[in-house]
Amino acid sequence: MLHKKTKDIVVGLDAGTNKICTVVSERDSDGILHILGIGHAPSQGLRKGLVINAEKTVEAIKKSIIQAEEIAGVEINSVFAGIAGGHIQSIKSHGVVPISGDGGEITEIDIRKVLDAAKAVSLPIEREIIHVIAQEYSVDGQGGIMSPRGMFGTRLEVAVNVVTASVSSAQNIIKSINRANIDVESIVLQPIASSMATLTQEEKESGVVLIDIGGGTTDFAVFADGSLRHSGVIAIGGDHVTNDIKIRFNIPATRAEDVKIKFGCALSSMVNENEEFILPGMFGYPARSMLRKDLSEVIEARMSEIFEIVKHEIDKTNYSNQIGAGIVMTGGASLMLGTLEMANSIMHVPVRLGIPSGLPGLNEDYQSPIYSTGVGLVLFASQQGEYGHYMVDDDSFFYKVVHSMREMVKKYF
Ligand SMILES: Nc1ncnc2c1ncn2[C@@H]1O[C@H](COP(=O)(O)OP(=O)(O)OP(=O)(O)O)[C@@H](O)[C@H]1O
Ligand SMILES: [Mg+2]
Repeated sequence: MLHKKTKDIVVGLDAGTNKICTVVSERDSDGILHILGIGHAPSQGLRKGLVINAEKTVEAIKKSIIQAEEIAGVEINSVFAGIAGGHIQSIKSHGVVPISGDGGEITEIDIRKVLDAAKAVSLPIEREIIHVIAQEYSVDGQGGIMSPRGMFGTRLEVAVNVVTASVSSAQNIIKSINRANIDVESIVLQPIASSMATLTQEEKESGVVLIDIGGGTTDFAVFADGSLRHSGVIAIGGDHVTNDIKIRFNIPATRAEDVKIKFGCALSSMVNENEEFILPGMFGYPARSMLRKDLSEVIEARMSEIFEIVKHEIDKTNYSNQIGAGIVMTGGASLMLGTLEMANSIMHVPVRLGIPSGLPGLNEDYQSPIYSTGVGLVLFASQQGEYGHYMVDDDSFFYKVVHSMREMVKKYF
C-alpha cells in the first residue's frame, strides 16, 4: 500500500556498472533519516560509469525502483542520482564579495553569494558544473577559514574547486531515469555520496583517501582539513579481475566471478602454497582442482595495478603527506580477502573498510560496501543544506531539472 507523503521521502539512485540500487528513506519530524527499503537490479547498460545501452539501463532502473517502492510502501517520484566516469573534471576558481549584513556579520547569504561568484568560470558549451566545493575562506585578507559564518568583516573571499561533468554523459543518466518516469532532483558525484556514508568528520579533518572499487571503475577522493580536495576515476574495477580469471583459466565469466568471490585473495602471500579448491565441471569438461595460489596471483596482478595508479594520482597532488587518517576502502571489490592488506602494503598508511551503518532501518544485509554510494546519496540529499559547498548550479541545465520538479511538488502540496 502506498501511504507516505512524497515530501518526507528522500530517494537515492546509484546507477553502477554492476547493479542499480534505489535507497528509499523518510525524514522524521526531528530530521532523522530512516531507511524504508532498498531495491536493486543487475545493471548491464553501463560501462565505466557511462550509459552505453539506454534501453537496458532504463529497464534496470525501473526494476530497482519498483522493488524499492514495494519494499518501502511508497511511491517514488524523484531521486538524487550518482554520477561518475572519466568525464568528470575539477578546476580551481576564486570569488570575492563585500559583506552585506548588519554590522558586517557574515551570514549564510554572504556565503551563498561568494560561492556564486566563484563558480562564474567560463566553460566549454559541453561542460556543466555539478559541485562547487569551498577549499578555504578569507575575511578581509585573513585566510585559512573553513566556516566564516558569524565572523565580522567587510570583504569575504573563497577559493573553490569547481567539479564539472560532460553535459551529454550527465544527460544520458538523467534521461534514462526520466524514461523510467522518475524526476532527477540533483546529480551527485559518486565518491562524495560514498564519503557521506562511510567517513567520519574526524577522518575528513585529519586527512583521508576514500577508494571505492566497484565493478567497472575505481573512484577515489582525498579529504583534508574537513573538505574534499581532489577526486578522480580510474576505469578499472572488480570486473577486470573477473575477466582476467576467465581468460587465465579459460572458464566462463559467471564461473570466474564465482571462484573469485569464494576462493579469491588479493594478496597471494596470504594464501597457503598447496591449498586447492575444486572447479566444478561444466559444458562436458570434468571437474578439476586448482591451486588457490594461482588464482590469487591473477587477482593480485590486477588489484595491485589499481592501487599503484591511485597512489600515483595522489602523489601528484599536494595531499599525499596530509592523509593522517589513512585509507577507507569501499565498493563491492573491497570485500575481496586481502584487499585491505594490499592497499596497506602499497600506500603505507592504515586502511579500513568503509561500510554504511548507524542509520535506523538499514538492515544488516545492506551494511555492506556495495551500498555505500546509494545510502550516501540519501544522506547527501538530507544534509545538503548544511553542506553548502556541494551545490547544484542554479542557472544550469541541472537546475532546470530540479526546478521543474519543485514546481510540480508545489502544485500537489
Ligand atoms: N564478496 C566479494 N568478494 C570479491 N569481490 C566482490 C564481492 N562482492 C562483490 N564483489 C565485486 O564487486 C564488484 C561490484 O561492486 P559494486 O556493486 O560496488 O559495483 P558498482 O557500483 O555496480 O560499479 P561501479 O561503481 O564501478 O559503476 C564486482 O566486480 C564484484 O565481483
Ligand atoms: Mg559503484
